[in-house]
Amino acid sequence: MKVFRRAFDISKHIDTLKRQGSSIGFVPTMGALHEGHLSLIRASNRICDLTICSIFVNPTQFNNPEDLNKYPRTIRKDISWLKREDVAALFMPETNEIYPENGNDPPEIDLMGMDLVLEGEYRPGHFNGVIQVMYRLLEIISPHKLFMGQKDFQQHRLVSMMIDQLKYPIDLIICPIVRESDGLAMSSRNGLLTKKLRDKAKIIFQTLSWAKENFDQSTDIRALERKALDRLGIPAIIPEYFQIINGYNLNPLRNWEESDYAVACTAVSAGDIRLIDNMIFKTPGN
Ligand code: PAJ
Repeated sequence: MKVFRRAFDISKHIDTLKRQGSSIGFVPTMGALHEGHLSLIRASNRICDLTICSIFVNPTQFNNPEDLNKYPRTIRKDISWLKREDVAALFMPETNEIYPENGNDPPEIDLMGMDLVLEGEYRPGHFNGVIQVMYRLLEIISPHKLFMGQKDFQQHRLVSMMIDQLKYPIDLIICPIVRESDGLAMSSRNGLLTKKLRDKAKIIFQTLSWAKENFDQSTDIRALERKALDRLGIPAIIPEYFQIINGYNLNPLRNWEESDYAVACTAVSAGDIRLIDNMIFKTPGN
């Protein structure tokens, strides 16, 4: 596996690979890798000739400096895992490679307010940072296919909108959520939980599953959300939101008929760790 620290060098390398006819899959990450990240890499390796991965803890998407400081960094383990997964190249830039002094800002992208709801409401500016870094990474890597996780459903929708608006010829592929055996969605932040909170965090998946079972044509959606919030609020877990949304535009879903894409999104605080999760209640085309 080749490791690149400079944007110019990896861009040049990828140009050569493309000219040789290889299809390029890209998996952007912030490191502290777990099986969820590996599932994206494996999907890319199945579909593309070569997989490029990036590890960059993007400061502009952390609205809370403390969260940035305590974000786990496990770079030696990450590199050995990526080698094992047959990743062709790893991009591991310093901040000034991604944000050079004379660098371009992303062009105006109309996020249609989808950056302001759900996570956007609790983490002001977070998605501007995500869009900024994804714009730069896609400029540098310019992959054929981009692999992202359903775990960050809102992030996936916003990046998809950016790709559409910029008319990038990039195929965005969403991969299912990988979970621990008790249902907790894998996350780099799970390791920061105390044993007690880690055990309690399974309430998130239990509540999403319960709500899905109780979701049908006759459901009063707002009442279901309120009941789900009640269920989430066990001692030491503070629910932030539980919303059933239209998966296309992230607006609260008014009723079953309104959309063929219904997703429940939730966030809780467990101690000072925020955990997010979601579950697709209605899949488009089903
Ligand atoms: P990070 O949290 O490291 O996640 C990298 C990718 O892994 C994202 O697409 C995320 O949705 C996916 N992922 C995380 N947990 C997952 C799980 N349990 N199952 C499946 N996929 C999972 O998301 C980011 O980094 C950053 O915002 C980034 C896109 C790299 C921009 O900085």
